[in-house]
Amino acid sequence: MSYGLQEGDRPTNMTIVELIRAFGRDLPVGIVITEAALEPPGPIITYVNPAFGKLVGRDPDEIVGLSPRFMQGRETRRATLDVFHHALKRGERFHGYLTNYRGDGTRYRAEIDCRPIRNVRSEIEGFISFEREVIRRIGRPIANIAGRYEDASASNDQLGNALRALGIFVA
Ligand SMILES: Cc1cc2nc3c(=O)[nH]c(=O)nc-3n(C[C@H](O)[C@H](O)[C@H](O)COP(=O)(O)O)c2cc1C
Repeated sequence: MSYGLQEGDRPTNMTIVELIRAFGRDLPVGIVITEAALEPPGPIITYVNPAFGKLVGRDPDEIVGLSPRFMQGRETRRATLDVFHHALKRGERFHGYLTNYRGDGTRYRAEIDCRPIRNVRSEIEGFISFEREVIRRIGRPIANIAGRYEDASASNDQLGNALRALGIFVA
């Protein structure tokens, strides 16, 4: 699989964010990066990959500069947002499920794996979230919340294996 590194990208001496931008171009998983400040109007989105634009049904250019709250609506659970907020405030990972809304008003269930990006001094410089649409699994016993949902896209095994190897979307 080609990850879209193009001439001009410098695989050496790249920052994590530059690396993610290069890899994220062709990756069929939504990626959103924000600044570190969490209180409104933050966290301000500084980057989304094309797959994220597709997921939320918006042009990536019109998402940059907004807060991820633009995806929330009537059925987005406040209790889950509070868990999300507190995890980020403590500098911890949030892995969970939220109802998000697209540009056309339709809703989808999003699996969200969000982590802090730390610099060499361990200070939080921003946050990165991997996001994908999931659907409710039918006819399987519910072991935990992750067992209730499955990936909505017909994404290939290779991608699933790569994400698992990186610990993304893993409980
Ligand atoms: C990188 C990143 C991605 C996020 N993605 C979403 C999202 O897809 N949907 C959502 O409802 N909130 C998302 N959030 C959470 C909101 O930005 C916000 O933190 C949440 O609403 C809780 O904080 P609040 O109580 O200040 O609103 C994301 C946050 C970050 C940092």
